[in-house]
Amino acid sequence: MSRGEMMFRFEIKARDAAGRIGKLEVNGKKIETPAIMPVVNPKQMIVEPKELEKMGFKIIITNSYIIYKDPKLREEALEKGIHRLLNYDGIVEVDSGSFQLMRYGKVEVTNREIIEFQHKIGVDIGTFLDIPTPPDAPRKQAEEDLKITLERAREAEEIKGIPMNATIQGSTYTDLRRYAARVLSGMNFEIHPIGAVVPLLESYRFRELVDVVISSKIGLRPDRPVHLFGAGHPIIFALAVAMGIDLFDSASYALYAKDDRYLTPQGTKRLDELEYFPCSCPVCSRYSPQELREMPKEERTRLLAIHNLWVIREEIERVKQAIKEGELWRLVDERARAHPKLYAAYRRLLEHYSYLEEFEPITKKSAFFKVSQESLNWPIVRRARERAERVKEKFKETIKHPIFGEIPKYLSLTYPFAQSEGEEDFEIVKPTKENVLNYIKAIAEYQFGENASKAFEGAQVELARTGMPRQVKLNGKRLATVRADDGLLTLGIEGAKRLHSVLPYPRMRVVVNTDAEPFARKGKDVFAKFVVFADPGIRPYDEVLIVNERDELLATGQAFLSGREMIVFQMGRAVKVRKGVEG
Ligand code: GUN
Ligand code: ZN
Repeated sequence: MSRGEMMFRFEIKARDAAGRIGKLEVNGKKIETPAIMPVVNPKQMIVEPKELEKMGFKIIITNSYIIYKDPKLREEALEKGIHRLLNYDGIVEVDSGSFQLMRYGKVEVTNREIIEFQHKIGVDIGTFLDIPTPPDAPRKQAEEDLKITLERAREAEEIKGIPMNATIQGSTYTDLRRYAARVLSGMNFEIHPIGAVVPLLESYRFRELVDVVISSKIGLRPDRPVHLFGAGHPIIFALAVAMGIDLFDSASYALYAKDDRYLTPQGTKRLDELEYFPCSCPVCSRYSPQELREMPKEERTRLLAIHNLWVIREEIERVKQAIKEGELWRLVDERARAHPKLYAAYRRLLEHYSYLEEFEPITKKSAFFKVSQESLNWPIVRRARERAERVKEKFKETIKHPIFGEIPKYLSLTYPFAQSEGEEDFEIVKPTKENVLNYIKAIAEYQFGENASKAFEGAQVELARTGMPRQVKLNGKRLATVRADDGLLTLGIEGAKRLHSVLPYPRMRVVVNTDAEPFARKGKDVFAKFVVFADPGIRPYDEVLIVNERDELLATGQAFLSGREMIVFQMGRAVKVRKGVEG
């Protein structure tokens, strides 16, 4: 088959925890992530790919090795291409036989052969023949396997010609995972699956899964989508997405169905034990468990598979909605109650604070809800506490907050202190005309770091009729506005200028190249590809200073990405610009 130029794009559209809603575009076909790819077995399709497409699955995964090994399928695939072979127009990703290698110890194909075959049959995303080293393998084996995987990656990089997965291996050795992720990040690949985690998933070793995923994510560049290879049970989606996983694949919908098992987001049930269906999908609203039990095996399997797919789809949508609402941690917390091992994994994840904090938004749409003891360890809570401690050194008057303890009195309007719900109510201490400027200064130090209060020296603050501060001005010019939603500051251009003069470079700076300069000055958004450097301390939704390489202020706006992400990303918006400085 002759094929056009390959194309691949990934950008972040919304985010919460270390999770993200992304836009992924492959060969002109667009999907939203997090997404799940149903596994299609070309030899046994329990649900036809066309039907999967109709259910909203716009990406599937199949196995190029199974096709390659079967003379008839192979010939047909070479002749028609993979999309017509499967009768499916969405994105087709293929695996390489690596999984068979792990299960059966050998495969009858070379790395080069399978990659060339994937290319020839016109897959959208290929996978080279990585070596999955199972958990707990001897260190020496893990190292040797990884060495071969990386050699194969080099071979793949040279010949691929299609968007391709580069799978991270390293068994349960977190340093090897991090190393593999670093090396593969430096190469020309599009997606990074985390491999050989199926044995961890099958034995509910979710805590170790967390360490494997986080160590891989730490080594990875942040702009490439990450796939958790072989993970397809909805019980894990919220936790995995919160860690920064973008793609899943599920054979479980079919495997469980064959076994008369019924998926729920809280775990798996046997059809035998169900008297009622806790689901209203087309299958469950039409039949009762008893009716399903009485059906012929084949029909029953098909219907169970369809239910399982609806549940998977629904949980992904629920996770995405939680991201939009800033409620992903709450969903993770809720799901963690489904199994003690998942609960342990959740608690383990919260120990990876420095990884999590970098991606955690500075503000959210919803108030913080103290739903559990663990919620007191969510990154926004720890960050708020740390920042409050710092602000306390300058603004010593404190008040007692039922969730956060002693906080500076002047932060009592600000997220998350005012926007929180615990067992007891928190009474906001409203500002007076005399002390309102202290509120502004304390918020500035909390939001922009030490010294930021100097930018607001001598400012006048307007109080709204509600008694809340709104506009902050100096000599009639607006420096900033206190947002009603979260009590944080939005900068005006005068405020940005003053902040720029009191904060040492590179604090809160996004440095753009000369191409972007005139656009930023005119108030146009800054795209990530123009960012040459950014303060690594910038967090999503921070108010930032856009400067050129001479550190001249060009504009101010709200960051969409963390500082490190902006530097790496080549696609999508980095800063929503509020106001430019006409040059
Ligand atoms: N499917 C499940 N695990 C793996 C893995 O580690 N590598 C590949 N290529 N496929 C998988
Ligand atoms: Zn159902």
